[in-house]
Amino acid sequence: MLLDCDDTADDLSLRKAARTEVAIIGAGIVGLTAAYALCRTGISVTVIEALRVGRQVTGRSSAKITSQHSLIYRQLRDTFDLDTARAYAEANRAGAAQIRTSIRELGIACDLEEKDAYAYTCTESLLPKIEAEAAIARELGFEADVVAPAPLSFETAGALRFPNEAQFNPAQYLVGLATAIKAAGGSIFENTRVHDVKPGRRWRVMTEGGRIDAESVVVATNLPVAGPGHYDLKTRPRGHIAMGFRVASTAAIQGMFIGIDHPTHSIRTGRDDEGPLLIVLGPAFVTGQERDVAARFRQLDDWAHKNLPVRQAAWRWFNEDYDTPDRVPYVGEPEKKSKGLYIATGFNGWGISNGAAAGLLISDQIQGRPNPWTKLYDPRRRAPKNYNKGDDSHSLVDSIDEIPRGQGGVIKRGKAKLAVHRAANGRVRALSASCTHAGCTVSWNNADLTWDCPCHGSIFSTAGQVIHGPATDPLPPKNLAKAKPKRRRKKRSRRRGD
Ligand SMILES: Cc1cc2nc3c(=O)[nH]c(=O)nc-3n(C[C@H](O)[C@H](O)[C@H](O)COP(=O)(O)OP(=O)(O)OC[C@H]3O[C@@H](n4cnc5c(N)ncnc54)[C@H](O)[C@@H]3O)c2cc1C
Ligand code: FES
Repeated sequence: MLLDCDDTADDLSLRKAARTEVAIIGAGIVGLTAAYALCRTGISVTVIEALRVGRQVTGRSSAKITSQHSLIYRQLRDTFDLDTARAYAEANRAGAAQIRTSIRELGIACDLEEKDAYAYTCTESLLPKIEAEAAIARELGFEADVVAPAPLSFETAGALRFPNEAQFNPAQYLVGLATAIKAAGGSIFENTRVHDVKPGRRWRVMTEGGRIDAESVVVATNLPVAGPGHYDLKTRPRGHIAMGFRVASTAAIQGMFIGIDHPTHSIRTGRDDEGPLLIVLGPAFVTGQERDVAARFRQLDDWAHKNLPVRQAAWRWFNEDYDTPDRVPYVGEPEKKSKGLYIATGFNGWGISNGAAAGLLISDQIQGRPNPWTKLYDPRRRAPKNYNKGDDSHSLVDSIDEIPRGQGGVIKRGKAKLAVHRAANGRVRALSASCTHAGCTVSWNNADLTWDCPCHGSIFSTAGQVIHGPATDPLPPKNLAKAKPKRRRKKRSRRRGD
């Protein structure tokens, strides 16, 4: 079964002009954490969400609530210094604690379970790296140790263990948080995509149904859809495929696991209405730069059946986040000139604790309160040029005859490129293949059946609707019929006397 995020109940959308102190664009973990923190101080908050609460990256993540982000602390100390590593540890500990406190205080039913977090290796020669990470983690106040082998159903050399971390159902958590925000006086509009944010005496947040004027605006859209700073160039999309497998019991897998070998796998337990599941993720790849995403699902299915006590796959989906060159997110005001506009992006696949910390930081910044993580997440720091190189479409075909039923391909028509999808019933639909964000040509994702942009990770449905930004406008429909040759107007000879 594919995870679906295209739910369009329409009585929730914005249909008027309104004023608020803080407008928050995006109801993911960043947006709703900030909204809840602000509401509780009596500040008026309006959240505007393009789809439904918690249905995007947060809701589709593996949702380990942990400060163990594979091996990171030694790298942070070596790239920056020990203080930076300490600030990262503290921010993530606080983010994780905030999630647990909200769940407890608000009584949110979201399958919160305490679990040990493991970063494991199957390669003996990588054990010294794990030991070195454990040493620095202990220096930073974690109860980290090394176990050999890891408590998994396949052979491993050992693992770094952080005890008593946690996992949860992130979509249920965000729905619970949204209820608390409304109860505290906040407003949430769903199915309302923001197309622009204009500066002025107040920020003006533009949507099709209405606009919101606000003193501050938080662009919490995973990758900013508005504002300065060129975060599309300072980040790189990282896509993962995920599968939920039926298991007789989850007893064999006691913990949450991330591999440090290549190819990397991530493993955790979970459940749905029909019983326990094992959730397994495959290695990262750049969104839109993979010709055969379906093959990755087949490989992951094979790997899981060889290594884990799984039965058939019940769920499969694709999800993406954004990497930064130094593995630290960008959070805060991108520019002095754009005072009152805040962004949060580049969570490197670890945006549950980092995302909650980002929401808390932005809430403090809006209230003018000092926060110890301001420098750590400084969104104005430089990134190497060409960090994100982008790419061309990976789905070019010579003719629509090459596109089988249920699939898509990109064809050239003169200077234009068309994204063509042939539905299961044979009906063909053509859209412009030019991404509405910055014009790169989209690729066909043959597993999720979407058009994915190989530059900054926008994702569109087969009807052209935006599923994931930074694009804010749909891919426009195109006519497949060949453009008719222009009829030459007959030049009538003007003869004297006619
Ligand atoms: C496969 C995978 C597994 C992961 N597992 C973990 C994990 O185990 N632990 C961990 O810490 N992190 C994990 N992460 C990372 C983490 O899930 C993300 O970093 C985090 O959820 C990002 O939160 P967000 O609020 O930025 O984004 P989102 O949750 O996507 O929220 C942004 C919201 O903005 C909305 N939006 C976008 N554009 C507009 C617009 N124009 N107008 C209005 N609304 C808009 C979107 O619809 C969305 O709801 C994982 C990531 C991936 C890809
Ligand atoms: S997402 Fe930037 S060009 Fe497509």
